[in-house]
Formats: sequence, C-alpha cells, structure tokens
Amino acid sequence: MKVLVTGGAGFIGSNFVLYMLNKYPDYEIVNLDALTYAGNLENLSSVQGNSKHTFVKGDIADRTLVNELFSKGIDMVVNFAAESHVDRSITEPDIFVRTNVMGTQVLLDAAKKYGVQKFVQVSTDEVYGTLGETGLFTEETPLAPNSPYSASKAGGDLLVRAYHETFGLTVNITRCSNNYGPYQFPEKLIPLMIANALNDKSLPVYGDGLNVRDWLYVEDHCSAIDLVMHEGKNGEVYNIGGNNERTNIQIVKTVLEQLGKPESLITYVKDRLGHDRRYGIDATKITTALGWNPRYHFESGIKATIEWYLENQDWWKRIQSGAYQEYYAKQYGDRL
Ligand code: NAD
Ligand code: DAU
Repeated sequence: MKVLVTGGAGFIGSNFVLYMLNKYPDYEIVNLDALTYAGNLENLSSVQGNSKHTFVKGDIADRTLVNELFSKGIDMVVNFAAESHVDRSITEPDIFVRTNVMGTQVLLDAAKKYGVQKFVQVSTDEVYGTLGETGLFTEETPLAPNSPYSASKAGGDLLVRAYHETFGLTVNITRCSNNYGPYQFPEKLIPLMIANALNDKSLPVYGDGLNVRDWLYVEDHCSAIDLVMHEGKNGEVYNIGGNNERTNIQIVKTVLEQLGKPESLITYVKDRLGHDRRYGIDATKITTALGWNPRYHFESGIKATIEWYLENQDWWKRIQSGAYQEYYAKQYGDRL
C-alpha cells in the first residue's frame, strides 16, 4: 500500500506519519509538504532514514508536481495539508483559499486521473459554524462556516463531495474537533499558553474566556483517520471527537496549575473577530459504525502534552525565534 500524506510535516500530519509507519511497517508513505511556517521536518527526525518514508517538499496546488507523484502510483490519499490557523485567516485570507480550496482540487483531479482507491479529506468541525449552549454537531448539521479558514475548509469538503457525486471518486471526509498534543505549533491555544507560562509572559485570553472547544488528543485523531481510510463507507462523512468540552479559561487555568504558575499571568484581550462560541461533536456514527473509541481522557492527555513541551523546550524555542516574533507582535501587539 502506497499512501500519499499531504501536510505530513505539520502538527497532526507528522503525528499521523509516525503512527502509520509504526502500525503498518509494510506501507510506503509519500509525504508531500510545502514546509510553510507550520511545517517542521524536526517532527520527523525519528524516521529519518526509514526507507518506507519519502519526503517531498512541494505545494499541493502545484499540478505538475502532484501529477508526477501520482503517476508513480498512489493507492490512497490523506489530505492534511492546509493553512490551519483561524487568526491568520482573518488577516491573510488569500492563501487559505489557494491551499485549502484550490490545492484540494488539484489533488482531487490527480486522484481521479490516476484512479486512487480512496481519498480522505481531513476536515474540521468548524465547517458547521457555532453552537449555542446546547446540542452537538452531527454529520447532518448544515455547513455554516464563520471564518475565512472554516469557509475555505468547507469549500475543500464540497469539492470532495462533488468529485464523489460527479466522477465516482471513492472518498471520505472526517470532521474533527480541536486537537492537542506533541508538535503543535505554539500559535494555537494550548502550546501558546504552555510556552508563555514557562516564559512568565502574559497569557492572552480572548473575550470573556468562556468560548468552548471540544478537545481530542492527537493520537486519537490519528487512530480515527486510520479506521476511516481502511473501513469508512464510500462517500460518507465521519465526525471525530472525544466529549471533552472545556471553556478556554478552564484550559488556561489547568495549564497554569500543572506548571505551578500564578493566575496573575492571565490577561483578557480583545476578542477574535467572528469568534465561534461553542463546538461540540457527536461522534456516535464513527463509534457505532467503525468501532472507534478515543484512548486518552483529557486529564491524562493534557498531562502528557505539558510534559512533552517541558521536555522539548528546544523544539518550540527554535520556532519562537525568527518569523514567529513578527507574527506575535502583529497578533498581540495592540491587544496586550
Ligand atoms: P498545521 O498548520 O500544523 O500543518 C499544516 C501542514 O500543511 C504544514 O506542515 C504545512 O507546511 C503544510 N502545508 C500548508 N500549505 C501547504 C501546501 N500548499 N502544500 C503542501 N503542504 C502545505 O495544521 P494541523 O493543525 O496539523 O492540521 C492539519 C489538518 O487537520 C488541516 O487540514 C486542518 O484543517 C485539520 N484539522 C485540524 C485540527 C486541529 O485542531 N489542529 C482539528 C481538525 C482538523
Ligand atoms: O475545531 C477544530 C479547529 O481547532 C481546527 O480546524 C483548527 O485548525 C485549529 O486551529 C483549531 O481552531 P481554534 O480556533 O478553535 O483553535 P485556537 O487554538 O486558535 O483557539 C482555541 C480557542 O482559544 C479559541 O476559542 C480562541 C481562543 N484563544 C486562542 C489563542 C491563540 C485565546 O483565547 N487566546 C489565544 O491566544
């Protein structure tokens, strides 16, 4: 089996590549990643020299390159490659449309042309928009994306659906809630709060801190995608989530408590524009139809994550130099 994993140098993609190489030592993994600011080959240093892993630096929207890769034979595609950060999509939406919509379409064209067995689109619960105080997102919830990021992901999803309906491409779409764990870029809530707390810097909490996210440990997301790629019913969408809703302020206080840092570091800042209030996933379909169950409770997952960031300070400190400084000043400069 030869699997094209796109975005395999990013947070979830690199965790997935490591998971696959470990679980399926006979599979060949071709990892196509443009190495944007979010891609980091250090995440894959443990598999350097593994002949079953081939890294290709390139853009999913580069049709010539993508066709060349498919022409050498690809059995399955798992598309993680994306611009993934909501705040960046508010200031620079163009690249989100280019990668998340147009890039997905280039991959779909190649998958159609070269006849792959399965195309898995890794999507997000954010395409459903926001929930009020009650209810959960099911696979039937209408798409109502509110940010340029989620709109571009919804655009990609709709193209996947269309290539299935129009051209008979074998596809699945997964829609997962917020991930956390090793190798997450420190622009996202949990690693940012860990890094800032360790540096005794302010912890910027948007708005009233009561927005709710539904957290899943990254390895549990990987095991769900593994099941969907092998056993998912053609054309189906699967929601993925672990019933771990928390307000942002609860998350921030948990991080501070585990690191033994004071709550005085918390600073409430100007809210994110269009900030979705609550996400919550109903994962009944994947648990009943495919037998998936998450292994990590939030308490053990967050502990393991904090330990990882403590033990791998070089990893995130290297990221926090250079271009990251410019990003941070732009994002938080007038908020803090
Ligand atoms: P990430 O930003 O950490 O990684 C994205 C990767 O894609 C990077 O390695 C980057 O270099 C690569 N990339 C970006 N543009 C590319 C392009 N044009 N061509 C090739 N590679 C490109 O993102 P992540 O958090 O790991 O998310 C991965 C996927 O999972 C995304 O599709 C995202 O929408 C989805 N998702 C993320 C979460 C989450 O909580 N992080 C939850 C649900 C779904
Ligand atoms: O739900 C899945 C989505 O989760 C994925 O599709 C996205 O790729 C991923 O980035 C994530 O999106 P969020 O916007 O939910 O994640 P983020 O870590 O950016 O923010 C989580 C919550 O924390 C959100 O309500 C905003 C808030 N926040 C975030 C940052 C970075 C803060 O209060 N302060 C911050 O500094």
